[in-house]
Order: sequence, then C-alpha cells, then structure tokens
Amino acid sequence: MIVVTTPTGQIGRQVLELLLDAPDGGPGAGIRVIVRDPARLPERVRAQVEVVQGSHADPAVLKEAREGVDRMFWLVPPSPAADSVEGHFRDFTEPLRAVVGDQGVRRVVGVSSLGRSVAVGAGQISASLAMDEAIADMGVHYRALCPPFLMENLLGQAESMREAGAFFLALDQDRVLRTCATGDIAATAARLLLDDSWTGQEDVPLVGPDDLSPE
Ligand SMILES: NC(=O)c1ccc[n+]([C@@H]2O[C@H](COP(=O)([O-])OP(=O)(O)OC[C@H]3O[C@@H](n4cnc5c(N)ncnc54)[C@H](OP(=O)(O)O)[C@@H]3O)[C@@H](O)[C@H]2O)c1
Repeated sequence: MIVVTTPTGQIGRQVLELLLDAPDGGPGAGIRVIVRDPARLPERVRAQVEVVQGSHADPAVLKEAREGVDRMFWLVPPSPAADSVEGHFRDFTEPLRAVVGDQGVRRVVGVSSLGRSVAVGAGQISASLAMDEAIADMGVHYRALCPPFLMENLLGQAESMREAGAFFLALDQDRVLRTCATGDIAATAARLLLDDSWTGQEDVPLVGPDDLSPE
C-alpha cells in the first residue's frame, strides 16, 4: 500500500496519475491519499483510491492513513504565509516520526530541494534540507528528491510575458538558473515508489540539462 500526500498539488497530482497508470503498482498494490477536500480529486481518481480526509500535518490523520502502508510520497506544501518557514516544515514533519520505521512505513520518497552543503540561512531551501535530516534521523529508508527552480514557477508571469514580453526574477540576467519540470519530479517519485529494491537514505538531484539564464 502506498500513501500519497498532496494529491491535488501540481507534483502530487502527477505522482498519483503515474501510480494509477502503472501496470503493477496501481490499484492492485493499493493507493491511499491524504486530502483536505476530497471533492478536489477528479472522479476517476476518487474511484480508484482510498481517501483519508485531513491534513498530513495532523498526527491523528497520519495515524489513520498508515494502516497497512509500507511506502509514502511526502511533500510539505509551500508556505508563503507561515511566520517561520522552519517551523512550518517542522510542524508537518515531526508527526511522521510516529508512523515510519518500526511503526509501519518503510520507504519515504520526499520532495526537498537542491543545495545541500551550499545553502545556509536560505529560507525554504534550508528548511527543506533540515526536513531531510529529520526524516533520516527517524531511521526510515528515504529518498530526498532535490530539484532546483521549478519551471512552473514562471507560469504565474504568463500574462506579463504575453502582454509586455517580460518576466521578473531576483537574479542576474546572465547567470545560469538550474531548472526542473514538475513532471520529471513526479516521474522520479513514481519510479522510486514502485521499486522496493532500494534502502538507506540518499539525495536524488533533479537538474534539467539546459544552461538557461533569464536572458
Ligand atoms: N518552487 C520551487 O522552485 C521549488 C524548488 C525546490 C523545491 N520545491 C518544493 O516543491 C514543493 C511544491 O509542491 P507543489 O508545486 O506540488 O505545490 P502546490 O501545487 O502548491 O500544491 C500544494 C498541495 O499541498 C496541499 N496543502 C496546502 N496546504 C496544506 C495543509 N495545510 N495541509 C495539507 N495539505 C495542504 C494542497 O492541497 P489543497 O487541495 O488542500 O489545497 C496541494 O495539494 C514544495 O515542497 C517546495 O518546497 C519548490
């Protein structure tokens, strides 16, 4: 049984679709989702998965979702309004301790960030990397998917690109910005969730091949 968090998010939604389409990992293996509002799931998806309603930051919800689960897709939602980004990541991650390792879930595939050993005091990035260390400390088999800047971040500026031929980033215009598509994160997550041969704890860097700068 695989449990998928954030099944309505841009990454989680694609992970779920790939798992449902997998010949030997979909409905046969059993998929459970944790979702705040099940009505936001497409009907086709709702018909094929078990639903636990609530937030994966809630220990009671996580415990309800863990029954018979050996693998988990883990994503801490973006937190633009959180008072403390570290606190936000901690609030989500700490309840995991009660459901992983000897408590049931043996493998976790989580979405983290590129930048280990480089990023210091780097907000969301440092908080993601600290999350990995906390999860590794729980003794569960773990793969931290480490993307750089998501290509989809720029979609919010589609109108400006269309209307004014411009987009805006806090970066020198000739400096390379590593990018990754959410589809590639989801494909890697699904592959790892369907593979029960890996063990231990490792980063999986996910960097697109292009040397693109804002220019
Ligand atoms: N942006 C970047 O350049 C970048 C780079 C590296 C890593 N990342 C990481 O990539 C991830 C972004 O994921 P995404 O793009 O898939 O996010 P997204 O599209 O914004 O989806 C967020 C998901 O989280 C759910 N959610 C929001 N608040 C919640 C709460 N309080 N409790 C439970 N669920 C909640 C939403 O569900 P509802 O339907 O309930 O709203 C939705 O399913 C983040 O972890 C970020 O750190 C981002």
